[in-house]
Amino acid sequence: MRQNFFRRNPVILLAGAGGQLGRELAACLGVLGPLTLWTRQDVDFSGEDLEREISARKLPGLKAVVNAAAYTAVDKAESEPDVARRVNARAAGALAALAESRGAAIVHYSTDYVFDGAKSGPYVEEDPPAPLNVYGLTKLEGERAVSGAASRHVILRTSWVFSQTGACFPRTVYRLARERDTLDMDATQRGAPTSTELLAAATLVILRRILQGSPVWGLFHLTASGETTWHGFASRVVARAAELGLELRLRPEAITARTVPDLSRPAKRPLNSALSTAKIREAYGLTLPCWQYHADRFADGLRRQADLA
Ligand SMILES: NC(=O)c1ccc[n+]([C@@H]2O[C@H](COP(=O)([O-])OP(=O)(O)OC[C@H]3O[C@@H](n4cnc5c(N)ncnc54)[C@H](OP(=O)(O)O)[C@@H]3O)[C@@H](O)[C@H]2O)c1
Repeated sequence: MRQNFFRRNPVILLAGAGGQLGRELAACLGVLGPLTLWTRQDVDFSGEDLEREISARKLPGLKAVVNAAAYTAVDKAESEPDVARRVNARAAGALAALAESRGAAIVHYSTDYVFDGAKSGPYVEEDPPAPLNVYGLTKLEGERAVSGAASRHVILRTSWVFSQTGACFPRTVYRLARERDTLDMDATQRGAPTSTELLAAATLVILRRILQGSPVWGLFHLTASGETTWHGFASRVVARAAELGLELRLRPEAITARTVPDLSRPAKRPLNSALSTAKIREAYGLTLPCWQYHADRFADGLRRQADLA
């Protein structure tokens, strides 16, 4: 637990501080007040004694809990439903109960995978969820645990998360683009690639409103604007990387679009992951850049890393 930088009681507890999104949040939320960061080493959310362990934490002056922790191994969750449920639902509920007991708020993240993807247009918050896989089901249970336990909650469903630093789809694409001269990418699933930079910036705005006493509580969809396929996302990153002069074996036009869903993976994925963001744009006055903006920033980051190497 690293709160000593601030030398004051924590205003915000950030759980999952070591994950893709957690690292980005840890870098920026400190401007709102003292932070306490929890990683798996501080509290294991799959532990049997979780509720007792969490409720025993002192945290005087706590105003908000931000839960970026999750069991995100979508395929592995099919064979580990109990662990996935403990982290995604039970721990989320325990953090919400902690927030409620201290008169604090909770900001929690969820996923497009709560939907089955059968709708033809973007999903709105009121659309009935129907998860296709264990991960999506346990995340839905987490949403319900949070909204059931905490009267002051903001739940943010997002999609196709990537970051400058962690293991994520565009990083895998970049590695493959250096190793291979052909690549086959799924073009059946549609969604909005959303960067942790965007999620952290939006969370900062939301938390500021919470701390200033003018929040809008509830469930919201939060993604970049526009939509694409995995093929479109991969092509954009490779094209930008090539434009920046990064050494690649793969040319963007050599990425082929697979038009038949891959049914070999343990977990089924929704074909349509597009989420309407009208509600959060209106409630919090957010402008959400198109997905290409952060995809290009990802490639720009690769260029900087290559220059430093
Ligand atoms: N990644 C996506 O494409 C995606 C898409 C839609 C929604 N989301 C949601 O966005 C949020 C952030 O996801 P992310 O991409 O940042 O995930 P991530 O990189 O996998 O980070 C999740 C964090 O949770 C921690 N965690 C997992 N099991 C734990 C346990 N038993 N005890 C304590 N901590 C544990 C992990 O710790 P370790 O590092 O020690 O494993 C990791 O730091 C999650 O709510 C996720 O469901 C993600």
